[in-house]
Amino acid sequence: MKPSPDSSGPAEILRCRFLVVGSGIAGLWTALHLAPHGDVTVITKSRLRETNTQYAQGGIAVALPAADSPEWHKEDTLEAGSGLCDVPAVEVLTHEGPEIVRELIDHGARFDHLNGELLYGREAAHGRNRIIHAHGDATGAEVQRTASEAVAGLPGVTVHEDMAAADLLVLDGQCLGVEALDLARGRRVRLLADCTVLATGGAGGVWRFTTNPPIATADGPALAWRAGVYLRDMEFVQFHPTALCAPGYPKFLISEAVRGEGALLVDAAGRRFMPEYHELAELAPRDVVARAVFTEMTRAGQECVYLDFSPIGDQRLRERFPGIVDELQRRGFDPFNSPIPISPAAHYMMGGVMADLDGSTALPRLFACGECADYGVHGANRLASNSLLDGLVFGVRTARTMAQTTPPDAALLARATAQPAGCLHALDVEAKPVIQQLAWDRIGIVREGQGLRDAVAQLSDLTEQIHPTEMASLAELEAANMCQVAWMAGTSALAREESRGAHYRSDFPESREEWRRHILLRQVEGKTEVSYQPVTVEE
Ligand code: SIN
Repeated sequence: MKPSPDSSGPAEILRCRFLVVGSGIAGLWTALHLAPHGDVTVITKSRLRETNTQYAQGGIAVALPAADSPEWHKEDTLEAGSGLCDVPAVEVLTHEGPEIVRELIDHGARFDHLNGELLYGREAAHGRNRIIHAHGDATGAEVQRTASEAVAGLPGVTVHEDMAAADLLVLDGQCLGVEALDLARGRRVRLLADCTVLATGGAGGVWRFTTNPPIATADGPALAWRAGVYLRDMEFVQFHPTALCAPGYPKFLISEAVRGEGALLVDAAGRRFMPEYHELAELAPRDVVARAVFTEMTRAGQECVYLDFSPIGDQRLRERFPGIVDELQRRGFDPFNSPIPISPAAHYMMGGVMADLDGSTALPRLFACGECADYGVHGANRLASNSLLDGLVFGVRTARTMAQTTPPDAALLARATAQPAGCLHALDVEAKPVIQQLAWDRIGIVREGQGLRDAVAQLSDLTEQIHPTEMASLAELEAANMCQVAWMAGTSALAREESRGAHYRSDFPESREEWRRHILLRQVEGKTEVSYQPVTVEE
């Protein structure tokens, strides 16, 4: 990175007790639980509801059914995580989940029922039917609506849409808020806060093909990285096996729940292939299915395989997946009569800003929760439909910890207020497609040493082009964030000489016990520090 030029005068200052960056379920549920403890400011770089949460289809995995238990949910989560989950984190997720989902329902979330009972769907690698869903396949929109309305009604909560966090404001080793861009008014803003939580969501936009909306540009991890905070397990990126293979960005997700209801994966000749790859066939863990699809595509030299909806039956298909059916028909596909072309796409980042089970990071007054955070709950491969639950459960815990944080010293705040505006980090937008293609080709579903080395070298060169500036466009800020996160993903993937969960190395195709540990990256005085941490197996 080039050295900073002199910075300009102070930016416009907004002062709050609690600052929440991001407005998906993790951010809004944190805000909701902070509200009784002081004023809360939520900033989001787009519209309040334009989040990854909004587009989640499958549902929320939660051990509510009488025939289920949090322990079984825990076992399935650990199994999917391929030995890299921290057991206490999974324990928290699965045991605290039921009560917090009941709270969401009390706030007005309407999940699908039959005869007055909640309906439970099935998704890959779940040993039980435990996925609650809304309007068939629009669970995320219902969760986002509920959380947005719950927060909108609170007097102490202020939401700023079109406000992008650009960098953390760090003074005397404490996070005192963020430097932000007010996109609507085209000016800089400094948000001064007693404590700040990063809940910026996903990183799918770093990869050329993704199911995530365009806002998912890995902002939280990049901000944390530039502030010297630990990032953990950045090589673990989940590729969803069934995105619609059709032009357009992002790729339209076809929920795993479709396979839970019986849809089958077939090749161009109609041959079902998943039983050759795993005993659970179409309901094998997501990484297994994504690699199988990739292998079949590569073997056949085709850009897709097909999803055959016919075993579901027309009526059930229409009732259970109205959103998917509508969208496919709108795009000219007919799921009732012909298999639908699909291919994998980047979907979820398991790694992220390292946080403890209460959302605290190593930087005082900085917290993280939801997809941008890593507290060890998803390990090497997230179990389907555990992500909304993660946002809810860890949002509540993070809020609890933040509420107990005492305000910073008045003299420190005064210095933070007076500090010059500082520089933003920007990268030319032409770099974006280059980063996305590199990430897809070299840090994708199947990786190998030389490809990773090339990718890291090219991403290092691009990182050198990140330049300090007093003003930048959102796209330039995002390009810088994407570049740094792609570099971290490549660096960790190169270090991890094994295959585990979503990280597959063709040159190291087996899991290795000595690699059953987390990889931590952080920046210390401009240099990268790589360290390792054992997996926590004790509860
Ligand atoms: C899906 O509906 O297949 C996605 C659900 C998830 O990512 O957990």
